[in-house]
Amino acid sequence: MTDSGFEFDEGGAAEAGKPTTSPFGSFGGSTTATVIIDADQAVRSRLAMQLGEIAVPLGSYAALRERLTGDPMVAVLGPSCASPEGLAEAERLVVDHPEVGAVLVASELTTELFRQAIRAGIKDVLAAPVDTSSLLEAVRRVGDTVAGYRRNESAAAVDPADLGDITTVFSTKGGAGKSVIACNLAVILARRSTKPVVLVDADLQFGDVAVMLKLAPQHTIIDAVASLDRLDAALLQNLLVRHEPSGLFVLPAPLEPQFADQISAAEMVKVVELLRTFAGHIVIDTPAHFNDVVLGLIEISDDVLIVAGMDIPNIKNVKIGLQTLRLLNTPMSKLHLVLNRANSKVKLDVSEVERTLQVKAESLIPSDVVVPQSVNKGTPVVLDAPKSGVAKSLEQLADLFHAPDPGRKRR
Ligand SMILES: Nc1ncnc2c1ncn2[C@@H]1O[C@H](COP(=O)(O)OP(=O)(O)OP(=O)(O)O)[C@@H](O)[C@H]1O
Ligand SMILES: [Mg+2]
Repeated sequence: MTDSGFEFDEGGAAEAGKPTTSPFGSFGGSTTATVIIDADQAVRSRLAMQLGEIAVPLGSYAALRERLTGDPMVAVLGPSCASPEGLAEAERLVVDHPEVGAVLVASELTTELFRQAIRAGIKDVLAAPVDTSSLLEAVRRVGDTVAGYRRNESAAAVDPADLGDITTVFSTKGGAGKSVIACNLAVILARRSTKPVVLVDADLQFGDVAVMLKLAPQHTIIDAVASLDRLDAALLQNLLVRHEPSGLFVLPAPLEPQFADQISAAEMVKVVELLRTFAGHIVIDTPAHFNDVVLGLIEISDDVLIVAGMDIPNIKNVKIGLQTLRLLNTPMSKLHLVLNRANSKVKLDVSEVERTLQVKAESLIPSDVVVPQSVNKGTPVVLDAPKSGVAKSLEQLADLFHAPDPGRKRR
């Protein structure tokens, strides 16, 4: 057997290591065998209850090693595995057995622990107590990544033609409506696309995408950057949070503004370049000023939406922003002017604005109280008030990137 003092096998309803009928069918059809490892019997029993009878609770890594068959498996590591020795053992396990995907449930999830766990090759880290749906979702996703392990190894590099499109939403004026436009555009594209659509919040200090979409993220861009030396498409997918009403995936901004400085332009670009290997479209929300991160993202973007409000300070700032982009040799063909709050009542004529900026507006979005109402509800206006003029003009804006498929049923 094993030299571990706490080795314990509750027997489980199925034998570990053998493909079983999965308890996760309703969460996406994973059939990967699942085991739980923790030194504390009460802890592993609780996790086993959450995962369903088929997950096998084990007291040690040694007990698990005895049961490996070479078939894909998900190992849920309980809080007792979060020690340096536990993580070292996890690393040995996944290095020796790449068919095993590990998920760590930690009592206290710090950035440092997350970084160490990812370095050890653990594919996802959740904070205890973990709710059942988050746990099942993590197990399903990690199961999917190990199920395809052999297939991925032989897979050819992504064809450049298959890389996702990148659209950055930018403005040199705060409050112009960048985040509202980025969130709604991304939600529309997610509903129209069969491939994943990802919204990245690159307003690293004051990003509010997660709030606008009413998301409570487990992970943020910080985690993606912290694990950059190990980051692959599978791990990055695990860090995204899903906006259930639309199917959009979101990479949120750091939860604390001081973390913004930890992210360089090169790191941000690397993360987005990896996203485009599996996403059909990436929409990026940005802060209201140029910085290295914004310039790096604009450079790799296929399209940049320049958002301007309909007042003189907005137009003045956007004019300066456009001049800066021209000086930086940004191809004008990828810049698209979006005029927000473009109502006739504001005594500023659209053609006058176009003349001043020397760019034609490709999208006019009216001002409507349904926008702040939807922001306060945490529901994008295209879902909250789909018949409003604002929603219709946002749908038209999305047509520039992905025309709606009339045969496709909306979720
Ligand atoms: N078309 C519109 N009609 C009415 N209100 C709008 C419209 N567009 C945006 N707003 C309101 O303006 C506010 C600012 O919008 P948003 O947060 O999208 O701007 P931003 O450019 O992202 O700002 P920041 O520079 O602070 O990130 C929001 O509270 C939103 O409700
Ligand atoms: Mg914003």
